[in-house]
Amino acid sequence: MAKIPTVFSLRHCFVVSLALNFSLILRMMYEREQGCKGAFWKKQSESSMAEVDSNHLMHKSHLAVSSSSPLVNSTRTDHPKVAERVINLDHGDPIMYEHFWRQMGDKTTIIIPGWQSMSYFSDLSSICWFLEPEFAKEVVRLHNVVGNAVTEGRHVVVGTGSSQLFLAALYALSPPDAAEPISVLSAAPYYSSYPVMTDYQKSGLYKWAGEAESFDKEGPYIELVTSPNNPDGYVRHSVVNRTRGFLVHDLAYYWPQYTPISSPANNDLTLFTVSKSTGHAGMRIGWALVKDKEVARKMTKFIELNTIGVSKDSQLRAAKVLKAVSDSCEEEGSSQEAESFFKYSYNIMEHRWKQLRVAVQRSGMFSLPTFSPAFCTFFSQVLEPHPAFVWLKCEGDIEDCERFLRGHKILTRSGVQFGVDPKYVRVSMLDTDENFIHFIDRLSAIHP
Ligand SMILES: Cc1ncc(COP(=O)(O)O)c(C=O)c1O
Repeated sequence: MAKIPTVFSLRHCFVVSLALNFSLILRMMYEREQGCKGAFWKKQSESSMAEVDSNHLMHKSHLAVSSSSPLVNSTRTDHPKVAERVINLDHGDPIMYEHFWRQMGDKTTIIIPGWQSMSYFSDLSSICWFLEPEFAKEVVRLHNVVGNAVTEGRHVVVGTGSSQLFLAALYALSPPDAAEPISVLSAAPYYSSYPVMTDYQKSGLYKWAGEAESFDKEGPYIELVTSPNNPDGYVRHSVVNRTRGFLVHDLAYYWPQYTPISSPANNDLTLFTVSKSTGHAGMRIGWALVKDKEVARKMTKFIELNTIGVSKDSQLRAAKVLKAVSDSCEEEGSSQEAESFFKYSYNIMEHRWKQLRVAVQRSGMFSLPTFSPAFCTFFSQVLEPHPAFVWLKCEGDIEDCERFLRGHKILTRSGVQFGVDPKYVRVSMLDTDENFIHFIDRLSAIHP
């Protein structure tokens, strides 16, 4: 029998073993990567599943986060440290959209060289002279794609968040020479920042007058209509309906992931923000659609006096983000693989609300609002609303729900801050997967 020369066999064994090891390492790397991607897409498809089996969902709640984040594995709910942890869901910080934007990679990356955007001015032909044309173009495009607001015959005014535009609107709508400040009101429960923002400077032009239902003063007023409403998620219309009223529509949450889009909003003055639509709260960009030219001019004046315009860098970044959202919607129609930002975010909201309802049912100590399904023109189907906040009520003899939950290390915002009963609290639904899951686990473990 022919003998294989020793040198040949040893060298070859070494090479073969190296090749095998190398391919094994490559395979492990590939599988890990696919595992991550798989977890991400699995999560998406899981979130759109139809059944609401409680055990199944609670199990999924662990899977959903633990597969995608190594951090979560070290902080499982059964870990003693997790039980100690304070879950802060007081603020509506919309960080849950981060996954989507990571997946978008460089599609929303912008590079601004040092010589660019140096001037105060953006567009001297526009009433809002600091409005970046690219941003204005993407605002109009997105509203047309989503169908949630009429943009024709409207002036776009950009603001440092819709918070600045809210104050600009109060300034612009207040009669300048009135004997007393104009009343500002909203139906309770109202967004907790309205009273504080209206009164913190003790303006001689406008004054917080409380909840709209009991408003009986003669004369002009400004009514704030938030729809869907923060905190309770219901669709709202004006309630005072008198001749001398001005309406400010705050539609921060009138986007398909939160509520069915019924028709394009057609108001005199409407506020929107990237904070809640795309989740980019840190960009501090909002916009107003204003019918009346003089009102738009005055709002622009307010911002000029307040901050001499709005960061161009942020407007350019916001334009990129809005463009990516509109592109994702249009691409979804042309490719089976693509998923629009709104479909992605709708799926997460739907999944979270299902988990929440199961947890509340398990606990037996709380109640939730119920919502009627409605036809959504964006998704072309009848859908249920999934608000950005939970308006949770403590049942039984718990009078102070915020305090009660604080005792369980869950921080929420008391109903008192929204002009109603302390039996209610507002809880953010927009936090990280990790915090949300801990919240669900902890809530379902609270029993009478
Ligand atoms: C109803 C409503 N309007 C306005 C804002 C503030 O938006 P921005 O971040 O654009 O100032 C919020 C934020 O929570 C909100 O809930």
